[in-house]
Amino acid sequence: MTESIKLIAGNWKMNGVGESLEEAAALRVSLDAEAANCRVALCPPATLIERMSATVGGSAIEVGGQDCHAAASGAFTGSVSAEMLADAGANLVILGHSERRTGFGETNADVAAKVEAALAAGLEPIICVGETLEQREAGEAVAVVSEQVMQSLPQSLSCNAFAVAYEPVWAIGTGLTPTLEQIEEVHVAVRAAIVARLGAGGEKAPILYGGSVKPSNAKEILNVKEVGGALVGGASLKAEDFLGIIRAV
Ligand code: 13P
Repeated sequence: MTESIKLIAGNWKMNGVGESLEEAAALRVSLDAEAANCRVALCPPATLIERMSATVGGSAIEVGGQDCHAAASGAFTGSVSAEMLADAGANLVILGHSERRTGFGETNADVAAKVEAALAAGLEPIICVGETLEQREAGEAVAVVSEQVMQSLPQSLSCNAFAVAYEPVWAIGTGLTPTLEQIEEVHVAVRAAIVARLGAGGEKAPILYGGSVKPSNAKEILNVKEVGGALVGGASLKAEDFLGIIRAV
């Protein structure tokens, strides 16, 4: 197993307005006082990236977007480019989240194109994969997730920093989590798929687990083989909950 520094990233999804930055400010105060044993990132809605960056600027907290367009610029009303995220202060971007794949019809090829756009703008992509409940119950989880990795990761990643996040769709926002054995089985398969796709350039990228991570289950999940961090939804909205997860590293 290749051990590198873990990444704990919070995905605020479509939650948060200006006053929510108080949570980011509180997180900053705590992490300024007690250095985290890992990388910490917050991914707020696009409207908050610039203000979030100002709030946590100079601290250890990194800022990410939740999606970007595959094109660098142009007539794409309502979309945000990777360069715009970087310009607003982001250094990371979540791509291919299941809520984008199912809600907005994003394919593996779309995700791969967005990854290329992110890399061109100097952003570190966090590429999400995960099976549905039906696929899990049909015994297809490993095959589905391995295929998503193979198809969503462009070759150009091999010489860039990136992360993959395994988020079982049925574990997102449900309070359900896979067993530790199930998490290990998929994470080991994801590592094998990354290395099959990218060669040695895929040996070190952290593989995050996401789906109902909370302070009470973070430690056992983060200790599973090949779990290189967590992608946290609901529990990242409150500084105290998110800190509980960060402290579990
Ligand atoms: P929850 O932590 O709310 O289950 O969300 C997980 C997720 O989708 C993070 O991207």
